[in-house]
Amino acid sequence: MLQWYKIDDAQFLKDKGIIEHKVGGKTICLTWFEDQLYAFSRKCPHAGAPLKNGWCERGKVICPFHRHEFDLVTGKGNPAQHDFIHIYPVKEEDSAYFVGIETGFWQNFLGSKSN
Ligand code: FES
Repeated sequence: MLQWYKIDDAQFLKDKGIIEHKVGGKTICLTWFEDQLYAFSRKCPHAGAPLKNGWCERGKVICPFHRHEFDLVTGKGNPAQHDFIHIYPVKEEDSAYFVGIETGFWQNFLGSKSN
């Protein structure tokens, strides 16, 4: 089940580059690129580099360690890389931004027990 989490002060992240952010019990990366907010995995699948130290260009996030590139929309790495990152869905409602995190069976079960 997809759970939406509000990102507080998302507009203020515009000049911050790539940041790590805790949302729904996960630490993910957030960044603005060409007026769109993107959310993706915090670690590079190649050798685990923190993608918060990378940068964005041509619609891709670039890993700082060995320069693997990942599409900000699909998460796909360049063809020779054979890897990908997870992209989290982002939506805007009434000028607020939300990131969708998939919750597992046990989180749903325990959440329904505490409500
Ligand atoms: S760790 Fe990211 S490209 Fe190697």
